[in-house]
Amino acid sequence: MSTTEQRVAIVTGAARGIGAATAVRLAAEGRAVAVIDLDEAACKDTVEKITAAGGKAIAVGADVSDEAQVEAAVSRVAEELGAPTILVNNAGVLRDNLLFKMSAADWDTVLNVHLRGSFLMTKAVQKHMVDAGFGRIVNLSSSSALGNRGQANYSAAKAGLQGFTKTLAIELGKFGITANAVAPGFIATEMTKATADRVGMGFEDFKKAAAGQIPVQRVGEPEDIANAIAFFTGEAAGFVSGQVLYVAGGPLN
Ligand SMILES: NC(=O)c1ccc[n+]([C@@H]2O[C@H](COP(=O)([O-])OP(=O)(O)OC[C@H]3O[C@@H](n4cnc5c(N)ncnc54)[C@H](O)[C@@H]3O)[C@@H](O)[C@H]2O)c1
Repeated sequence: MSTTEQRVAIVTGAARGIGAATAVRLAAEGRAVAVIDLDEAACKDTVEKITAAGGKAIAVGADVSDEAQVEAAVSRVAEELGAPTILVNNAGVLRDNLLFKMSAADWDTVLNVHLRGSFLMTKAVQKHMVDAGFGRIVNLSSSSALGNRGQANYSAAKAGLQGFTKTLAIELGKFGITANAVAPGFIATEMTKATADRVGMGFEDFKKAAAGQIPVQRVGEPEDIANAIAFFTGEAAGFVSGQVLYVAGGPLN
């Protein structure tokens, strides 16, 4: 493929939040974008935002933790937009609870969406990348990978994604494919709003309290993460692979 040809990107969980901002950003970078989320109708806003700005996008409904749905979704993208060579594994859910109250079902749901979902999507898309001799994979990790109270399931999944990312980088590098992880800190989305609701705080107060703990003194916006993902998926980032970038308004370790 010549670099003037339009590359096809898949962004999962792109109906809203970080995924939606990423889909819009990648379309602005000239990519044709498949907006994947659980409910196809919920992807309409993101697709309309892209097409209104002159970009190309389609909505695809799929549960990333379901193998048959993932395979059908990737086949549809390949038929309607062309072979996908950029993949952003962003779909995610929370089922927070302290360990002694966490059900096995809530453990499984979180591990299934984040880890199994990223595995299934990557497996389905990688053959297109190998054929093209080019690929960019970005997995959404989190500052919670370093440990976070009430998130045994989520932190395990997000730490797992870092190991998954490094292994993809090692296995797929020879095919012109890079794999990197972006690990956001606090980003203002429905996900963090739900956490504020759960702990009984108003979202504005919750964000203000979070901002006070962040060196740049503000919470992140979805576009802050889309910006980092745009770098990793760029044509020029071919020598950057297996990295985890914390995008959190300050250092984390
Ligand atoms: N918001 C934050 O502060 C933050 C911080 C670190 C990491 N992250 C990660 O960034 C990603 C996006 O988070 P967000 O804040 O935009 O969340 P969000 O809840 O606003 O959006 C997540 C999207 O994923 C979709 N989704 C959930 N399960 C799915 C499934 N099985 N198949 C397909 N789609 C599914 C949802 O429908 C939703 O549209 C997640 O992986 C999240 O864990 C977020």
